[in-house]
Amino acid sequence: MARAFRAMEISIRYMNVHEIIYKTKAASEADIFVHLKECSALFVPDLSAAVDIREYAGKIFHKSVTFEAWVKQRLAGLVAVYCNDVETKSAYITSVSVVRECSGLGIASRLLEMCISYVELNFFTKIVLEVNASNAPAVNLYKKYGFAIFESKESSFLMKLELPAFSELPH
Ligand SMILES: CC(C)(COP(=O)(O)OP(=O)(O)OC[C@H]1O[C@@H](n2cnc3c(N)ncnc32)[C@H](O)[C@@H]1OP(=O)(O)O)[C@@H](O)C(=O)NCCC(=O)NCCS
Repeated sequence: MARAFRAMEISIRYMNVHEIIYKTKAASEADIFVHLKECSALFVPDLSAAVDIREYAGKIFHKSVTFEAWVKQRLAGLVAVYCNDVETKSAYITSVSVVRECSGLGIASRLLEMCISYVELNFFTKIVLEVNASNAPAVNLYKKYGFAIFESKESSFLMKLELPAFSELPH
């Protein structure tokens, strides 16, 4: 019953979200700031308690590659990855967020797929991230894409996705 209700709720929301447009590196620093402010309370713990959101938006804008979901010119979903450590070939996902009204629509999944493809195509061999241990939706999301916990800290997990070396990919 609860499951049927959830499915109905998601399909109604999906109808209201007319069109989701996916882009890479199109968001401005201000778009990222507004999006992170909107999502702040959804993070575990609240993002504003962990970082200065204005500074963090600037860092994401200048140093990361962003994968973005846009709904009616609003940045509704964001995955940001640092992909610049060519020595270790290790990329780092610094942020994943989807605004509350668009959750459960598959947006984070699609953005993560875009991110993984990008990292692979740039010859990186792994992606690392840190997630709060009590953030079940995020931990589930990462496990769905093959990330595995390789270190448990006091309240968080470090997770890693090993990617096949480019030469090992099927032609
Ligand atoms: C975690 C988050 C990014 C998921 O975004 P989303 O677009 O709703 O996720 P999707 O619809 O693509 O769902 C993908 C998977 O995530 C997991 N998931 C998403 N919501 C979930 C929930 N409420 N409970 C349990 N698992 C959930 C599931 O494994 C789901 O796969 P499934 O649909 O096949 O079961 C979103 O809830 C969010 O922005 N949270 C706040 C910010 C945050 O905590 N970011 C992570 C920081 S490390």
